[in-house]
Amino acid sequence: MKYNFDKVIDRSNNYSAKYDELESKFGRKDLCSMWVADMDFESPKPVIDAIKARAEQGIFGYTSRTDSYYDAFTGWYKRRYDWDIKRELIANSPGVVTSLSVLMKEFTKAGDKIIVQTPVYYPFLNVVKDNGRQLVLNPLKNIDGDYVMDYEDLKKKIDNKVKYLILCNPHNPVGRVWTKKELIKLGNICIENNITVISDEIHGELVYGENKYTPFASISEEFRKNSIICLSATKTFNIAGLQDSFVVFPNKKTYEQFKGFLDILGIKRNNCFSLVAVETAFRHGEEWLKQLLEYLEGNCRFIIDYCKKNIPSIKPNKPQGTYLVWLDCRDLGLDDESLNDFMINKAKIALDEGRWFGEEGKGYTRINIACPRTTLEEGLTRIGKAVEEYL
Ligand SMILES: Cc1ncc(COP(=O)(O)O)c(C=O)c1O
Repeated sequence: MKYNFDKVIDRSNNYSAKYDELESKFGRKDLCSMWVADMDFESPKPVIDAIKARAEQGIFGYTSRTDSYYDAFTGWYKRRYDWDIKRELIANSPGVVTSLSVLMKEFTKAGDKIIVQTPVYYPFLNVVKDNGRQLVLNPLKNIDGDYVMDYEDLKKKIDNKVKYLILCNPHNPVGRVWTKKELIKLGNICIENNITVISDEIHGELVYGENKYTPFASISEEFRKNSIICLSATKTFNIAGLQDSFVVFPNKKTYEQFKGFLDILGIKRNNCFSLVAVETAFRHGEEWLKQLLEYLEGNCRFIIDYCKKNIPSIKPNKPQGTYLVWLDCRDLGLDDESLNDFMINKAKIALDEGRWFGEEGKGYTRINIACPRTTLEEGLTRIGKAVEEYL
């Protein structure tokens, strides 16, 4: 079937964070909402149908995760990446951020250091700090808008207190899809220094063109044993509100420790809709995903062309993956407070502020382009007009 990603959907009765939290988060309601990372598109039709059918059953009691649910998950990664995920090493959690936080709390102790590569998805910074661990920053190198890992800096930052590195693979917000070669180089440094890699691969399926997502643990047995992988269908298929994610552990001991902690909190089961939605997405979502990626790639081209022609003082990166575009606004010459105020009160657009992602995000802002092209155009027109008036 042909999906229509141009369809504009009113999310006002959608209980959506993206729209309902505009006033509390940005101080006004009349904003074009392009911040939090979910999509303004309907999920794949088979997913919607499966949820409807489940709702029709009318009984929403306690759930049990079936073999079929796990087979759908492992089958996806086997089929697409030839990656064998061992069933007995898969844990579930309501979300990737929950998993990261539990990993910090349960797997590290006071004084341990954790490396992150800024600018990066800000909950990485928060889960380390909020759990009382020491954050070590290994900023990415920005070479005229192309971001690469800084291995020399990484080596310098390592000491025997560093226990984990949290990797964003692919990377939010800079849109890099790390190559196998880059991951091998990083992974080897971590192995040499007894640092376990926690790889957040939630954006793994959202990659464009020739770029290839490499599941970190699929690289080699050595890498598998030295990593914990966070995965989820929620970003790919726009079902974040259903709250389900997976963690793939290297051994039974770590799996049990994680699962044991969630058990103590009473987090043992999925909600019933997430089970059918996730299973159906992994079994029948591929065609939708293919069409989605074509549309998103079109949006990437659109924003780049638009800015070049109409807002040359704002420079978008060209994402290799993710539906998040990193806008370099430094030519506007505004400090962070003023840039934030400019986007909200002059352009009337809600974006993720660059500084949330770390020091290196100053002068930047992040726009979510997973929306119909007309919405994207509206957002860019607003920014363009405000910039014209300002300059
Ligand atoms: C890199 C990354 N990890 C995790 C999440 C959120 O995951 P969850 O909703 O499963 O906590 C996001 C959402 O934007 C993300 O970009």
